[in-house]
Amino acid sequence: MGLTTGACFAHLGHVVVCVDNDLTRLEQIKSCAIPIYEVGLDHLVTESIAKNLLSFSSNPSEAVRDADFVFLCLPTPSGEDGKADVSAVIQVAAQIGSDLKGGSVVVNKSTVPVNSAAVVSQLINRPDVAVVSNPEFLREGSAVDDFLNPDRIVIGCIDESAGWRVAELYSSARCPVLLTDPVSAETIKYMANAFLAMKVSFVNEVASYCHVSGGDVLEVMRGLSLDPRIGARFLSPGPGWGGSCFPKDTVAIAASARSLGLDLGLVDQTIVSNRMHQGRVVQFIEEAVGSSVGIPQVSILGLAFKAGTNDTRESPAVALATRLFDRGYKVRAFDPVALAPANSGIEQVFSLEAALTDADVVVIATEWKEFGAITPDMFKMLMRRPVVVDLRHVLDARTLREVGIDVRVLGRQY
Ligand code: UGA
Repeated sequence: MGLTTGACFAHLGHVVVCVDNDLTRLEQIKSCAIPIYEVGLDHLVTESIAKNLLSFSSNPSEAVRDADFVFLCLPTPSGEDGKADVSAVIQVAAQIGSDLKGGSVVVNKSTVPVNSAAVVSQLINRPDVAVVSNPEFLREGSAVDDFLNPDRIVIGCIDESAGWRVAELYSSARCPVLLTDPVSAETIKYMANAFLAMKVSFVNEVASYCHVSGGDVLEVMRGLSLDPRIGARFLSPGPGWGGSCFPKDTVAIAASARSLGLDLGLVDQTIVSNRMHQGRVVQFIEEAVGSSVGIPQVSILGLAFKAGTNDTRESPAVALATRLFDRGYKVRAFDPVALAPANSGIEQVFSLEAALTDADVVVIATEWKEFGAITPDMFKMLMRRPVVVDLRHVLDARTLREVGIDVRVLGRQY
C-alpha cells in the first residue's frame, strides 16, 4: 500500500519520495508500469510524476533527510506463532534515526502489534522527532478511492500537535478524525479486520445453515439487514475470506492476545469457521460433480482473492482449486488479471471460452463482473454438461435454471 499512499498524497499536492529496496520494482514504477492491479493507481502515478510531485529512491537515508513526514508502509507478514513479523519496521526505524530532520514526524502506517509506536520511537531515539500511528483501512481494488474518500482517519499519538499535523495532510477528506493514544490506534486496525472477517464468517455459516435447513441465504440476509443494528454491508456469502490482510491479521491479533495471557475465543473461532467453510465449499462442488466417467474437469472462474485485484495471496479461489487438484480432479482456471501460483497443478487458461470448453463443472470463485455476463448458450455449447457452482452470486440463477443450466448456490434452494 506504500505506492498507493505515496501516489495519493502526491495527488493531494504534497511532494512525495517513495523508497523501496527492490531496484527492478522501482524501475518498473518509474516507467509507469505498475506491478499491481489497482484501479486508478497508474493514472495517479503518471500524473504525479509528470507534475514532479512523485519521485522514487532506493536510499532511505537520503530520502528522509529533508522530509517533514516519513511514512513507514512496510510489510508485516506472519511470523513466529502467527505474530506479526515486524523486522522490516525495526530495521528501517533503526536505520533512519540519525538522518531525520529535527521537528519531523515518523508515521507508522504498517499493520503492527500494540506498542510498536513506542518501539519505533526508542529505535529512532530522537526527542525532536514525534512518532505517530496512522493505520490504513484501504481495500485492495478500491484503495485509491478509499484513500481519497476515507470514512475515518485514525491517529495515535502522544504529541497531539504532531497528530494534528498528520491529519492535515489528508486535506480533502471529509470524515471524522479520531485522535487517540498509539496503542488504541494500533488495536483499532487489528480489531477492524477481525470484526469484518467475523461478519463474513457469520454470513457463510448462514449459507451453510440454509443449505441443510431449506432456507434461502439471500432472503435471510435481506431480513437481517433491515435491522439497522446489523446492516447490509460486508455480508455477502462467498467461498470464505482471504487476501493479504484478514488471514494474517486475525492470526496475529489472536497470537498477540495469547502472549498477553488472553484467549480471544471469537477471533480464534472465526479462523476455524473460515477453514471449515472452505471444506464445506469443496464438498458442495464435489456434490455438483457427482459421479462421472473418467477424471472430471473442473474449471474455476477467478483466482484473485476478490474482484478488482490480481492478488492471489491466501485466495480462497486458489485454495479450493488446489484442494480439488489434490483430490484428483483436472483443474483449470481463468482470471482476467491474476495468475495461478507456480507449481500449484492448476492449468491456467486465458479466455472464458477456453475455461468453459469441455468442463464438467464450472465454479465461480471470484466476483468479476464478466462472469455474470456469461450467456446460457456459452454454458450449453462449450461445457460437457452445464453444471455451474456460483459461489459469488453473480449469475441470475433462477433464469439460467429455467433454460436448462444446472446452477447451484450454497444456501439457496431451487
Ligand atoms: C481488508 C479491509 O477491508 C480493509 O479495510 C483493510 O485496510 C485491509 O484489509 C488491510 O488490512 O490492508 P482487503 O483485504 O483488501 O481489505 O479485502 P476485503 O474487501 O476486506 O475482503 C476480504 C475478504 O473477504 C475477501 O476474500 C472477500 O472476497 C471476502 N468478503 C468480503 C466476502 O466474502 N464477503 C463480503 O461481504 C466481503
